[in-house]
Amino acid sequence: NVLILDFGSQYTQLIARRVRELNIFCEIKPYNHLPEDVSVYKAVILSGSPFSIRAEDAPHPDLSQIKGKKPLLAICYGAQYLAHFNGGMVSPSSTREYGRAKLSFIDHKEPFFNGISEGSQVWMSHSDTIKELPTGSTKLASTPDVENAAYKINGEDTYAIQFHPEVYHTTDGKQLLENFLVNIAGLAQTWTPDSFVETTVAELKDKIGKEKVILGLSGGVDSTVAAVLLHKAIGKNLHCIFVNNGLLRKNEFQAVLDQYQGMGLNVKGVDASARFLDNLEGESDPETKRKTIGRVFIEVFDDESHKVEDAKWLAQGTIYPDVIESVSATGGPSATIKSHHNVGGLPDYMKLKVVEPLRMLFKDEVRRVGASLGIDKELLGRHPFPGPGLAIRILGDITREKVAILQEVDAIFISGLKEWGLYDKVWQAGAILLPVNSVGVMGDERTYEKCVALRAVESTDGMTADWVNLPYEFLQKTSNDIINKVRGVNRVVYDISSKPPATIEWE
Ligand code: XMP
Repeated sequence: NVLILDFGSQYTQLIARRVRELNIFCEIKPYNHLPEDVSVYKAVILSGSPFSIRAEDAPHPDLSQIKGKKPLLAICYGAQYLAHFNGGMVSPSSTREYGRAKLSFIDHKEPFFNGISEGSQVWMSHSDTIKELPTGSTKLASTPDVENAAYKINGEDTYAIQFHPEVYHTTDGKQLLENFLVNIAGLAQTWTPDSFVETTVAELKDKIGKEKVILGLSGGVDSTVAAVLLHKAIGKNLHCIFVNNGLLRKNEFQAVLDQYQGMGLNVKGVDASARFLDNLEGESDPETKRKTIGRVFIEVFDDESHKVEDAKWLAQGTIYPDVIESVSATGGPSATIKSHHNVGGLPDYMKLKVVEPLRMLFKDEVRRVGASLGIDKELLGRHPFPGPGLAIRILGDITREKVAILQEVDAIFISGLKEWGLYDKVWQAGAILLPVNSVGVMGDERTYEKCVALRAVESTDGMTADWVNLPYEFLQKTSNDIINKVRGVNRVVYDISSKPPATIEWE
């Protein structure tokens, strides 16, 4: 296990990704919440930081349990931190030290740079520079602009680098991390999806024993993988609840429910469509629609969880980015998880103990674990779908008729993407029902009907996105199908806006 101490760099999560790609497990902890017992960690990595080491409120954690006692790799700010407090000197740099640079000198006597040659590209991003190395250290690498690009503290397994090995533009970054973690720290590369399943199932068995667990399934990847893991550990004591809010895709409730049952899960489908749609009647403000759906979901879930007698646990499909976000948003683990507020006034199911088997995994790792559990590829490859479902794709107020129209349009679009082999090339796709009627002509008659927008985007995390260049022939066929088959729609448009400045959803 590797500890990554986070000084707030935008790249900290990337360090973790790279370490995991080497099949080595790692955890990120904020610098101000250094674990008291560090004996479980075989190596430690210090991240970069937006701070200058010379700033008054810059992070200054006590590393006395780590430095010189364990293999330590300090990146960027971390490297400056070690220099500053060990007899070196850090000051503002006079030349530009952002972006690409090439290593012009490497000390090849050190295993740290095994397999890496002069000329190798590295990525710099810093405004301070290490003018003098700490006492008792040796320079390991330079670039034309940065003399002390890497150094080692003599007699310790302490290495420091000014550049970022975790970013894609540092060509040999992964090799460098491997040299440090495997050759120097002696870590085994055994962390794989299969091993994760094996250890997690054993831990869950141990933790939960014969107690009952409730889990809300959404049809999405995270909750499904969490359910299958728990099912493997505790079988029928896992009670899954799958709620139909009436705003899912066409036939999705039954199809997904059948799929879950086919996987042997103990799942109860609850059709609460009417309750959701009645509560949403006449409401056209997007945020109010979201809040209403959230509130009704809690009510329905609360009612259902009471029917599971003697349940002790609530399972959630929380994944690592959510955990890191909530830690950094609150400044430390004191309020780590949203659902951990065991206080009065909240629904009863929130008073259950919480189990989150995926809380250490990134999204792509969840998919790999899902594959290792034998979950259907199609389910694992499903596009993201917002919790409020079609409610935020029907602009303005929601009626049953509008839901039915949008379900038909969406089904034609999505099944078309699948038939044309385009579905997996798209990150997310869907249709939006606009609050606009326009004139058309069908046969000899003038029509005055609805307009729908189609949206398909490429993205990696939903934070930024670009519209997909779908083939004209596909758009033509889809538009024809929609207008001919869905009554009430006479116009189809394709959304060609990127995020930012647009968002993926229209509400
Ligand atoms: P935006 O529209 O903000 O969407 O670009 C980014 C991603 O988030 C999804 N999304 C939501 N998911 N509840 C959700 O669970 C919501 O209220 C919500 N709004 C947007 C959206 O589908 C996209 O994947």
